[in-house]
This record gives sequence, C-alpha cells and structure tokens, in this order.
Amino acid sequence: MNEKTAANLWGGRFTGETDSGFAEFNRSFGFDRRLLAVDVRASVAHCDALVGANVLTGAEAQQIHAALQEILQRAQGDPDYFKDAAEDVHSFVEARLIEIAGDLGRKLHTGRSRNDQVATDLRLWLRNEIDEIFSAVGRTQEALLDIAEAHPDLVIPGYTHLQRAQPVLFAHWCLAYFEMLARDRERLSEVRKRMNVLPLGSAALAGTSYSIDREAVARALGFDSVSRNSLDAVSDRDFGIEFAGAGSLVMTHLSRLAEDMILNSTSEFGFFALSDAVTTGSSLMPQKKNPDSMELVRGKAGRVFGHLIALLTMMKGLPLAYNKDMQEDKEAIFDIVDTVTNCLTVSATVLRNIRVNQSQAREAATHGYLNATELADYLVRKGMPFRQAHETVGRIVTLAVDRGCELGELPLAELHALSTLITEDVIDALSLEKTLATKSQTGGTARARVAEALISARKTLAAD
Ligand code: ARG
Repeated sequence: MNEKTAANLWGGRFTGETDSGFAEFNRSFGFDRRLLAVDVRASVAHCDALVGANVLTGAEAQQIHAALQEILQRAQGDPDYFKDAAEDVHSFVEARLIEIAGDLGRKLHTGRSRNDQVATDLRLWLRNEIDEIFSAVGRTQEALLDIAEAHPDLVIPGYTHLQRAQPVLFAHWCLAYFEMLARDRERLSEVRKRMNVLPLGSAALAGTSYSIDREAVARALGFDSVSRNSLDAVSDRDFGIEFAGAGSLVMTHLSRLAEDMILNSTSEFGFFALSDAVTTGSSLMPQKKNPDSMELVRGKAGRVFGHLIALLTMMKGLPLAYNKDMQEDKEAIFDIVDTVTNCLTVSATVLRNIRVNQSQAREAATHGYLNATELADYLVRKGMPFRQAHETVGRIVTLAVDRGCELGELPLAELHALSTLITEDVIDALSLEKTLATKSQTGGTARARVAEALISARKTLAAD
C-alpha cells in the first residue's frame, strides 16, 4: 500500500505516490517526537519574528501561539495524540496547527526550513539535557565525597600494573574519581557554550529573504548569539559529536570506577562489598552475589563510544549543506543522553550503599612491601643517593621474601649489615602512618592533604 504524497509537507511537486515501505524507512517521528516541546518553543519564537517581518499580524500571532500551546498540552497529556503516522515531529506539529488554525497555520513556515528548524530544536533539547547531566555528574561526585568522609581512616593498597604499590587513603581514591568527573563537568559546560548558537534564520541553506530579527529570536530562545553562515548552520552537527565525546569520557570514567568496584569486591580483594540493593543472585549457584549494576555500567560504555563513531562516520563524507543522512544523529544523541544519565544515577546508588572491610583493606595495605619506597626515601634522608638506596632496598626486599616476612620484621642487625645508615628509627619510618604522612605535597595522600582536598572538593561542588 502506498501513501498519498499530498499528505506530506512537500506533496505539490509529486504526481506519484510514496512507497509505503520507503515512507516508513524515511520516518523519524517514532523517535524525534522527543523534540516536540522544543519544536513548539522555537515555533513560537519564529512566529513572533514573523510579526516583526510583517508576515503575520499581532492578532494572528496570538492565534498561532494559542494553537501551539494546545498542541503542546495534548502532546504532554494524551499518548494517543501521537498515533498519526507523521513524517517527522516538524510535519506533525505543522499538520496539527493547520487542523486547529486553518489557513493561518499554513503561514508559520514562512522564511523557515526544517533544516534550520531541526538544527535549532536539537540544540535547544540537548542544551537542557546537558544541564541535567551536569547535575547528575554532581550527584555522583557528592556520593564519592560522602563515602570518603564516612571512612576517613580507611587505608587501601594502591596499585600500579595491578600489583600492590603504595598505601593510599580510601578518601584519596574517591577523590581521584571526583577529579575525573570534575573535568567531565567542565567539558560539558564547554560543549554547551559552543553549541548555544542559533541556526534559525538560515532557512534551507542560503539564509532567509524575510526581515526576521535573528538576534531577537536568539534572545527569546536563550541562545548567546546567531550563526554566522547559513550553509554551515544547517549542516553542522559538531555539537552532537562533541557531546558524544564528552559523554564517552564520562562513560570511560564510570567504567573504570565500575571495574575498580567489581575487583575490590571480589573475595580475592574483599575491600568493599556491594549492597544487596545493586547486586543479583545466580539462578544456579546459591552463594552468588553478582555486581550486575557495575558490569552494566562498564558494558554500556561501549554503546556510547559506538554512537560517537557512528556520528563521526555519518558526517565525514557529507557535501554542504543539509543531507538526510543527518536524521541519523537523533537516535544516537538520545541514547547517549539516556545511557549516561542512567549510568550516573546507578553508580551514585552503588557508591552510597558500599560497605567497606576495614581490616582486610588494612591487611592488604601493610603486606606485600608497599613500604619499600619508604625505606629507600629513609636512606635518602640519611644521605644515600636515591639510585643506590633503590638497589639496597631491592636486596632487603629479596631477603624479606626469602624469610617470608615484611621489611619491618627483619632483625635490625641484618638490616644494618646491608646498610649502616639503618638504625632503630627505621621501624617508625616504615609504619603505615609514616608512609602516608610523608606524601605531604599538594595532591598526595597524606591525611592532612586529603582532608584539605575534601574541603575544597565540597566547595567546588557547592559553587557549581
Ligand atoms: N527529520 C529531519 C531530520 O531529522 C528533519 C529535517 C528534514 N529536512 C529535509 N530537508 N528533509 O533531519
């Protein structure tokens, strides 16, 4: 069965009917209906601009406003309203407008194209979503600060190459993720700023021949400025790609957090336990408690990266100006928004419900020679060149490994035999507390520095 082309916005030039399979293939209304509210908002601003351009009278504009308002209310309250098989959200709103306002409704598209319309709608929509994601990132950061403050004394082993390296405060670990998310917020603000430029008034590609006041439209819609080139304005999706990039980095950070949480909550590590609220059982093995929440976050990073690549690939071969390929931007962008938002929310819940195993973490942080670097620094303080100290401590570690003991458990006489600089103050120098306390430069894991970092992190969060 075919569709009457006359039913479309562009039917005049056509004598034949549209193949129904193609009509379905061409349709974006199934997903771009999410833009309905911003489409109405941009239409109201365009309607007002048409009054200034002497295309509409004030009274006509009032009538169009009222009709658009009615469409918005129906769309928000009545799911059946969307049953009509429109081509896209723009044709849907225009068709409903004509149903309500008759011929007057047919005037609204004067000086406008769906090309500048969709570019405007998507920016308006995404701008708002970026604000929401910005807040969601903030809530995840807040969860990190809350659990850091709830466990001020917790020490965990720090790793490089997944080998025990040096002890760090749990709060320091939390603050590391806080910093990643702080950069994500900065990046989102920058993306928002660059995308906050109005394309409307570019019309199909060449600009509009009506004297609409673009600056006034920009002000009405909260844009910082108007686009400077109509060809670019209708065919630019940089903002979507930049958003996908910023979203991908959020997902990279959440995925690393997820991996850390999963690993640290295994029986092999056992420093954290995830709560029942965010884990699942096995249908076969009764003992299992699986970290599905964090595994899904880690897994969903892949689909966001996929959207980034899809958007880049979709754009790279397009000649100026608008091409229908660009309709593919929306599902990608919508899914990134949904995925990033959900993953931030779930991650915050997982963090807030974490249980820590203080003794197991401390045991791991004090076994496996995590204080070897401290011993080298001790020798340096006593005058030995670092390279020589490194060599000496290497030999001491080998000795301790042979004995099956920790560095501080080796008899002082044997240590002394390997370096006469080692005296009984070494025991104190090798203690966990000293190991932490010496990392006292800005950014280090000394208790005092971490306490300051927590205060300053709270301030940054409150300021945003
Ligand atoms: N649904 C279209 C999209 O999302 C709207 C723009 C259509 N413009 C056009 N000239 N066909 O890209």
